[in-house]
Amino acid sequence: MTVTIVGSQLGDEGKGGIVDVYGDAADVVVRYQGGDNAGHTVVFEGDEYKLSLVPSGAVRGKVGVLGNGCVVNPRTLFDEIATLQEKGLDPNVRVAERAHVILPFHRILDGIEEDVKSESDQEVGTTGRGIGPTYEDKAGRRGVRVGDLLDPDVLRERLEYVVPQKRALIEDVYGLEIDDLDDPDALDVDALFEEFREIGERLEDRNMTVNASAFLTDAMSDGQNVMFEGAQGTIIDIDHGNYPYVTSSNPTAGGAATGTGLSPGVIGDGEIIGIVKAYLTRVGSGPLPTELGGVVGDSPGYDESTEGRNEELAEDIREEGGEYGTVTGRPRRVGWLDMPMLRHSARVNGFTGLAINHLDVLAGLDEVKVGHSYTLDTDEHSSSSNRNDSRSDDGEELFTMPPTTEEWAKCEANFRTFEGWDEVDWAAVAEDGYDAIPENARAYLDYIADEVDTPIYAVGVGPGREETVVVEDPF
Ligand code: IMP
Repeated sequence: MTVTIVGSQLGDEGKGGIVDVYGDAADVVVRYQGGDNAGHTVVFEGDEYKLSLVPSGAVRGKVGVLGNGCVVNPRTLFDEIATLQEKGLDPNVRVAERAHVILPFHRILDGIEEDVKSESDQEVGTTGRGIGPTYEDKAGRRGVRVGDLLDPDVLRERLEYVVPQKRALIEDVYGLEIDDLDDPDALDVDALFEEFREIGERLEDRNMTVNASAFLTDAMSDGQNVMFEGAQGTIIDIDHGNYPYVTSSNPTAGGAATGTGLSPGVIGDGEIIGIVKAYLTRVGSGPLPTELGGVVGDSPGYDESTEGRNEELAEDIREEGGEYGTVTGRPRRVGWLDMPMLRHSARVNGFTGLAINHLDVLAGLDEVKVGHSYTLDTDEHSSSSNRNDSRSDDGEELFTMPPTTEEWAKCEANFRTFEGWDEVDWAAVAEDGYDAIPENARAYLDYIADEVDTPIYAVGVGPGREETVVVEDPF
């Protein structure tokens, strides 16, 4: 059977930990989208593993597959494998031949475009890993795929087509000199060819490349359990997220089908678990109606002069939850749980179960709030007589996120307040089970499950693998 793990919010919901908890019964763990923009922290037997590309299951000796929907930076891949090997692990990682390769110039272009956008305050706050530019080339039918690295003639042909275009883009559109870049070789066909041909040989020598669709179908025919490990989250999905403040792939459950070559029926026959952080965090720009405090440069309209939005509370939650980017180290924006967001997420993904993480981080607060609905404040924007019917009316109460980011930015959260719960021995709670969770916290959890009509499968009450209350094992 299959279990698909999906971030229900803005990424960083603690997916890696849940993959780890449920991973025992999985034989294969598969990434289906994204690349080394992900940051998965797995704590296992006291050791902490930070992974950005290798599937988390590798920590537990599972076969890890990077599906065709991924974008793969081979430098990161081999670095991470080497780091795990140094810690005594022997990760078995396979890469889809149909996956696209992040080339060095993709990172450069990611940086340049963010710089240009920042001149008009439009930067997305990307991880700078070249994710967007690589998916652009994939959609533009000028990308280099993992399979192309195995055939030097094809590799050279692809590079000879694409590199001059990138050079022209950098020089003629952005007005920069290639020689002034930190790494001019990133735009040199011969240098790229040499490095990536050698990477192709390494992949081949280690027998790492696969036809993901056939590989996974065979595994399932042999009765193996497959876990799909979504990266990022629903609200930064390129289709269902708050465009343009999104990543360039589909973290949502549908991506598990297109990003691996298994049918939607296979994914839908299995379990789809939404990972929920008990509050909200966001890296980078874009609206956040339940935000507490703000991060200068990321929170729209926030600077020292606009302080007075519960900064202290935000800081407490940020510190307690260690809310700093795994990949970038940036402080994450913090807010209360947002139910319209979660309802949208549950609908788009078809969750069969929820794992609610970081409940312990909220312990000790007098009260815990949740954005139950929004009130839309569309002002002049709403009064136009030819407004499309799908648009909401000024003052309307909304229970799901509106489709445009501009409308979302005009949503004010209507809060519900729950009584807080005390700090307790969370490891003991995890051992004793759901009923050992403090009553007020259970009221909060039950509310969430009811609102999205989805049962709770697990509750994360600490960073360690043993600090999870497991209600249901999906395998
Ligand atoms: P990109 O994926 O690097 O192109 O970044 C696009 C947007 O997605 C930015 O707002 C990033 O902060 C966000 N993002 C990308 N990966 C992650 C992640 O793993 N967790 C949280 N946010 C992410």
